[in-house]
Amino acid sequence: VRLGSGVRVLGRPIIDRAPGSRISIGAGSLLISRAASTALGVSRPVILRTLLPNAELSIGFDVGMSGTTICAAHSITIGDRALLGADVLVADTDFHEVDVVPRRHLPIPTPREADRVVIGDDAFVGARTIVLRGATIGDRSVIGAGSVVTGDIPPGVVAAGNPCRVIRSIEKHVIDEGDSRARLDAAHQ
Ligand SMILES: CC(C)(COP(=O)(O)OP(=O)(O)OC[C@H]1O[C@@H](n2cnc3c(N)ncnc32)[C@H](O)[C@@H]1OP(=O)(O)O)[C@@H](O)C(=O)NCCC(=O)NCCS
Repeated sequence: VRLGSGVRVLGRPIIDRAPGSRISIGAGSLLISRAASTALGVSRPVILRTLLPNAELSIGFDVGMSGTTICAAHSITIGDRALLGADVLVADTDFHEVDVVPRRHLPIPTPREADRVVIGDDAFVGARTIVLRGATIGDRSVIGAGSVVTGDIPPGVVAAGNPCRVIRSIEKHVIDEGDSRARLDAAHQ
C-alpha cells in the first residue's frame, strides 16, 4: 500500500490488498474509523480492499473519509480533496452474478471496463451514500445523504436520491488548491 506523506489514521482501518493489485492513499488524507473522532460517528472502520490481482484503488491528495468502505475488483479512483461522509460505501462489482445461476458459490463476476468508478476532485459524497459499479461523480459535485449513485453525475452539481439525480448546479466554485496545500504544509511543519 502506497501512503503519501502526512496521511492521518484515527482508529484502526481494515486495509486488504489482493496480491498484484495496487492501493494508494494520497498525502494529507484523513481516514477516521473511530466513532468518537467524528461528529456523526461511524458504524464501522474504514475498509479499503482490492479483490483481484489487477485491481487499482487510488485515493487522491487531502481526501477525508469516515467509516467508508471501498472495494475494488477493477478500478476505483477518488479525486483530490474529495470528502466521503460517514459510512459511504463504494464498490465496482456486484460481488455476485445477476443471472440466476448457482451464484452463491461462483467467484465474483469478471470485471469490465465499464465497471470503473470515479469520484472527482473536490466532490462531497453525503453520509450513507452507496456508489455502485460504473458510477462516476464529476469534480466539485455534491451527493445528498443516503443516495444511491448508479450512473454519471456531471461536474459542479448537487444530486441526490435513489437513483441519484441532478437537483441543481452549483454556482459558486471557489477552489483554491494552492491554499489547501499551504494549510496542509503549515499543519505538518
Ligand atoms: C443535498 C444537500 C447538500 C442539500 O442540497 P440543496 O441544493 O441545498 O438542496 P435542497 O435542500 O434545496 O433540496 C432540494 C431538493 O432535493 C431534495 N433532497 C435534498 N437532499 C436530499 C437527499 N439527501 N436525498 C433525496 N433528496 C434530497 C429535497 O427534498 C428537495 O426536493 P424538492 O425540490 O422536491 O422539495 C443536503 O440535503 C444533503 O444531503 N447533505 C449531505 C449532508 C451529509 O451527509 N454530510 C456528511 C457529514 S459526514
